[in-house]
Amino acid sequence: AGGAYKWHCDGAWRESTSGKTVGVSNPATRAREYEVQACTQAEVDEAFAAAKAAQKGWARTPLWQRAALLHKVAALMRDHAQPMADCLVKEIAKPSKDALSEVIRSADLIDYTAEEGLRALGEGALLTSDSFPGQTRNKLCLVSKVPLGVVLAIPPFNYPVNLAVSKLAPALMAGNAVVLKPPSQGVVAGSHMLQCFVKAGLPKGLVNMVTGKGSEIGDYLTGHPAVNCISFTGGDTGIAISRKAGMVPMQMELGGKDACIVCSDADIDLAAKAVLKGGFSYSGQRCTAVKLVLVVKEVADALAAKVAAGVEKLRVGMPEDDCDITPVVSESSANFIEGLVEDARQKGAKFLTPYRREGNLIWPTLLDHVTPEMRIAWEEPFGPVVPIMRVASADEAVAHCNANNLALQGCVFTRDINKAIAISDAMETGTVQINAAPARGPDHFPFQGFRDSGIGSQGIRNSLAMMVKTKSTVVNLD
Ligand code: G3P
Repeated sequence: AGGAYKWHCDGAWRESTSGKTVGVSNPATRAREYEVQACTQAEVDEAFAAAKAAQKGWARTPLWQRAALLHKVAALMRDHAQPMADCLVKEIAKPSKDALSEVIRSADLIDYTAEEGLRALGEGALLTSDSFPGQTRNKLCLVSKVPLGVVLAIPPFNYPVNLAVSKLAPALMAGNAVVLKPPSQGVVAGSHMLQCFVKAGLPKGLVNMVTGKGSEIGDYLTGHPAVNCISFTGGDTGIAISRKAGMVPMQMELGGKDACIVCSDADIDLAAKAVLKGGFSYSGQRCTAVKLVLVVKEVADALAAKVAAGVEKLRVGMPEDDCDITPVVSESSANFIEGLVEDARQKGAKFLTPYRREGNLIWPTLLDHVTPEMRIAWEEPFGPVVPIMRVASADEAVAHCNANNLALQGCVFTRDINKAIAISDAMETGTVQINAAPARGPDHFPFQGFRDSGIGSQGIRNSLAMMVKTKSTVVNLD
């Protein structure tokens, strides 16, 4: 396994005793770009043991010292942003500018988490007993927040750096240790990111990274007795993890079928721009991408024409050239997307732009007259395909959204704020954006999927709050 990227345990970068590696393919060239270690179950045990041992001392490290170390990590990430971004271009075909912004956004997230953690975790509470019936003021309850222990962080391929630090930074700031399992594609960018944590001078063993196929070590990791918290972003696997996991707090962000509801009084130019950006940025490979447009019939032709005109202008090509549309992450993903498009074609969808594919590169595809009988009305392509469904009313649109098990975000376009709030209230989804495309950021906003889209709220404040438990000490007075 020499020459392959190493895994990280107890302060050292190591080769696996398995002698095996896992290849990382470049989605654009489909050639093997990197090799990483295929860790064994015994190595997973070692990572958890190192984390558990290091966490004891870290829990006693003053908050201001934890914050100072995290600020160092953020500075190192800014200093090394370009090489990390270059890996993202090669591993996940993210357009070069977006790849760089992912790293900078991640450094900002770490700084914010350090600052927020200093204030939020530095506050506790004092309760007196005499507010409860029959009690006197003879008991003082001192409430503080203490770490959970070891957090297992599993980020997805589409944000291997950002969705790793959104787990690592709050976990560490709150006094926890971490075992990170990076996605198979994105693992090298993840290794560079982890090196910034290591170089900042965190105690050895506090952050560990095991690599290998999720299908081989995933269950072992998530069912490990040393896990005290799981923070996972990805697909349906999260549902299986949460069913099997023990009694540990979980944060799961899974799929989405974010709908864009366009009302008759909407600013159509604004809505069209949002559909274009929301639907096609990073080739639709975002949980929060616009994955269905529900437009009322009166304005459907106007909206469809404007979006189609925008799609024609999107640059299709390679991530190194910072094209808008780049190859999707894998051949199996491209095949899945194609399956949804073909199903829609057979059931009568109208293609406003032609479907075209070369290898993993899929040209942006806009489908109109999509009906509820088509799979694409319900499933997420995670690719550059946007379906338009024409509806009689906003109520019909809301009913369609609420009938889907995926319920991450959604958006509504109208000039009437009363209508917008009513629609937001009616939509049973984690976040509704009014007059803008769905998006997770700014990263301190709460972020939670409903139903099969997840459990546990994210966002910096909520992640900090989720990664601690409440400790009470009661002083009993004479
Ligand atoms: O797909 C991951 C999800 O968290 C999307 O994030 O920033 O693209 O809205 P963002």
